[in-house]
Amino acid sequence: ALCAHENPLGSSNISKTSAVTSANMSDLSRTVPQEQLPSQDLHPSPTPVINLGHLSLDSVTRSGVVNDIAKACRDLGYFQVINHGISQSVMDCAVKAASDFFKLPSEIKEKFASEDLRQPVRYDTSSKDSISMSRAFLKLYAHPLSDWIQYWPQQPPIYREYMEIYAVEARRVALQLMEAILEALGLGKEYLNEKFQEGSQLLSVNCYPKASQGAMTIGLAPHSDYGFLTILLTSCRGLEVVDRSSNSWRTVQQLPHALHVHVGDHMEVLSNGLIKTVVHRAILNSEEARISIASIHGFALDEKVTCAKELVDEQNPQKYKESSLSDFLDHLAANMDNKQRNFLESLKM
Ligand code: OGA
Ligand code: NI
Repeated sequence: ALCAHENPLGSSNISKTSAVTSANMSDLSRTVPQEQLPSQDLHPSPTPVINLGHLSLDSVTRSGVVNDIAKACRDLGYFQVINHGISQSVMDCAVKAASDFFKLPSEIKEKFASEDLRQPVRYDTSSKDSISMSRAFLKLYAHPLSDWIQYWPQQPPIYREYMEIYAVEARRVALQLMEAILEALGLGKEYLNEKFQEGSQLLSVNCYPKASQGAMTIGLAPHSDYGFLTILLTSCRGLEVVDRSSNSWRTVQQLPHALHVHVGDHMEVLSNGLIKTVVHRAILNSEEARISIASIHGFALDEKVTCAKELVDEQNPQKYKESSLSDFLDHLAANMDNKQRNFLESLKM
């Protein structure tokens, strides 16, 4: 990729009935140990593709898109977005920066190694965290950027700049999507706006080796993400999700220019279970090493996420305890060597 310093491309009213609340969902995905589910298909399953540009058109078009997002969240917990305003060059540059970082000598990378989950930057390779089967990763706190960027790698020299541009853009997309989902939940797009604006962003920058023949093919074991939304940029195919209708693994398609989006544990909590978190994993690609950048969006470190009181009543009692990102990190630290760790399970009432 050239990675020229290109600017990213330029980036109502809805009926009162909530698009999300009007259906029930199966909850199979967490009742079977995910490792044991069959991989159902050799071909990726079609994933809903949302044209994000339509969110800023007239109110009829917007509410159509909001409904599509709501349906995808409710039925699948994931979808993809196109026309999201992040240029291909910005995405390519972020992947290139990530890839170049992982090519650095181990001594340089190991400087970022830490057992402390609250470190602004944390490098690790497989084995220690029980879910990384075959991956190296660099986790970066990314919002508010001015608090964190001073800790980000300075090698390769382009790293901070390219990762920053992408991080800011990914966050813009996440906030736009969050508004649409809040609208669909009947909470209104301004719901808890300040907490979302001041929220956290964690980048999980992953590097998976090319699969070698006959070797273990799982890069990252099944898990769900803790936040509200994850925006995932990947260099090639490898992500799999649990398909709820067939209760099997599904390969996620790799569409040009698209970003994959899925919901996390705190979305399930906020929606009081109307939207379910998505269990996913990463498989090694047999053709090439793979880079992925997961941008995870939540509230600020100590800000508690609770079930929206508007979604709690006599028929729908509160299903989850409140929790924060900080609580999640404590949970993770206490369950580092435990494969069955599950933050959301620990929140269920
Ligand atoms: C993650 C994640 C998937 C992938 O980092 O949380 O799920 O495809 N990544 O790398
Ligand atoms: Ni994940």
